[in-house]
Amino acid sequence: MGRVQRRPGITDGAKKGKGPFMDIFEGIYSRRSIRKFTDKPVPQQDVLEVIKAGTWAPSGLNNQPWRFVIIRDQAVRTRLAELTRYRIVIESAPACVAVFADREAMYDDTKDHQAIGACIQNMLLAVHALGLGAVWLGEILKNGPAVRELLELPETLELMAVVAIGYPASRNQEARRRDIRDVIVKEC
Ligand SMILES: Cc1cc2nc3c(=O)[nH]c(=O)nc-3n(C[C@H](O)[C@H](O)[C@H](O)COP(=O)(O)O)c2cc1C
Repeated sequence: MGRVQRRPGITDGAKKGKGPFMDIFEGIYSRRSIRKFTDKPVPQQDVLEVIKAGTWAPSGLNNQPWRFVIIRDQAVRTRLAELTRYRIVIESAPACVAVFADREAMYDDTKDHQAIGACIQNMLLAVHALGLGAVWLGEILKNGPAVRELLELPETLELMAVVAIGYPASRNQEARRRDIRDVIVKEC
């Protein structure tokens, strides 16, 4: 599938029920992890829309255990980048959103982590629908406490991922998936 165009008025259209936003299957199948970005700044409104989409993920008991830190500052990004082998991705991304689990809002580790996974996937799809690109960075979790210290956050927040966001420098990478017949274990 070709480059996905930004469709204006995404929220307005959805609200009015006109549905000018990207078809949900087109979005799911054409989204790719983007690891190289142009220098073009990401509008704050888009970052907020991405976070909002994240917060519309389901969560057990609707406890919404996710918390977010928006990171744009060059000096902070440089220090964040030092905490992962995906340094270049963070340095290249004009905006990063660090996603945390709030221990004080959580009620079940497994279910809360699942909810935050759903939240991050919503964010990635929203990024894509806005004509931006992103990658879910998990490798940095090995330095979760250091990220928390860098961002001067309380110990109740546990790092779940950093989502690096920007305008894609290219969109030509491929991705593979197993055939669904290989992953359906049984049909009864
Ligand atoms: C939990 C999780 C952690 C990930 N961590 C990283 C990471 O640290 N660095 C990275 O470049 N990509 C990371 N990814 C992205 C995957 O590599 C990517 O989704 C996968 O290769 C499939 O490619 P696609 O997203 O383009 O379909 C992560 C994805 C998930 C779900």
